[in-house]
Amino acid sequence: MLNSSGQRLPEESGRVEQASPGMRPRIGHASWNRPLSRASGSRAGCPPVALSVTLQDGTDRPNRCPGEVSGYDRAVQEDHPTRPTIDMHRTKIDLPQESREKLIELLNARLAEAIDVTMQAKQAHWNVRGPSFFSLHQVFDKVSEEFEEYVDLLAERVAQLGGTVEGAIRLAAKHSVIAEYPLEITGGRAHVDALSTALYSFGRLARQAIAGAEGFDDADTADILTEVSRGTDQLLWLVEAHLQAEV
Ligand SMILES: [Fe+2]
Repeated sequence: MLNSSGQRLPEESGRVEQASPGMRPRIGHASWNRPLSRASGSRAGCPPVALSVTLQDGTDRPNRCPGEVSGYDRAVQEDHPTRPTIDMHRTKIDLPQESREKLIELLNARLAEAIDVTMQAKQAHWNVRGPSFFSLHQVFDKVSEEFEEYVDLLAERVAQLGGTVEGAIRLAAKHSVIAEYPLEITGGRAHVDALSTALYSFGRLARQAIAGAEGFDDADTADILTEVSRGTDQLLWLVEAHLQAEV
């Protein structure tokens, strides 16, 4: 932009501005608020602290210093004018930033619970005893294997949306709302009851999440959650069928 005298205004002059040390640079009107590593600012020829940069043409330059804006950054910024307020990865996916933040939160919640159910099924698989041991041992293992697939589906959707996958076991334990698996049980009926309760709880949450994803106009996340929900219902049927038999 030029002023009335034909001179370039400061914000388009390619200037760099000092920013708070340790923070990402301001790009245009907003910032990423993510810490830069100390090492990144000390490369030869680069300033020792984070900078604020506004470039005129948005073109990418080789060996950019930390804080400079690439053409890719500019394209993402133009597509999503509201910059991230939480720690997210850049992506060109055509879903609004605000929706993706909510979807990631929703998916990470279901991920924690899916990890929990995966291990609850293993707990049942390892500890079940009694006359129906072998069939229950197998059906519980099938639940665990299926849930490993759901964990992967949910986690990868978080990544596709630019989020950080909260898949570590301690995070799952912290965030899951599924009731804790009882340690004292051994009989087939008790394990069937405990695992079917976990499947019921997860299935209910997954079904609710489908509506949540649809509310953010993300048919793909809704489709993944539908697949997970449908599979959970099938597993619940398999497990409950044992409860209704003589075990
Ligand atoms: Fe096994």
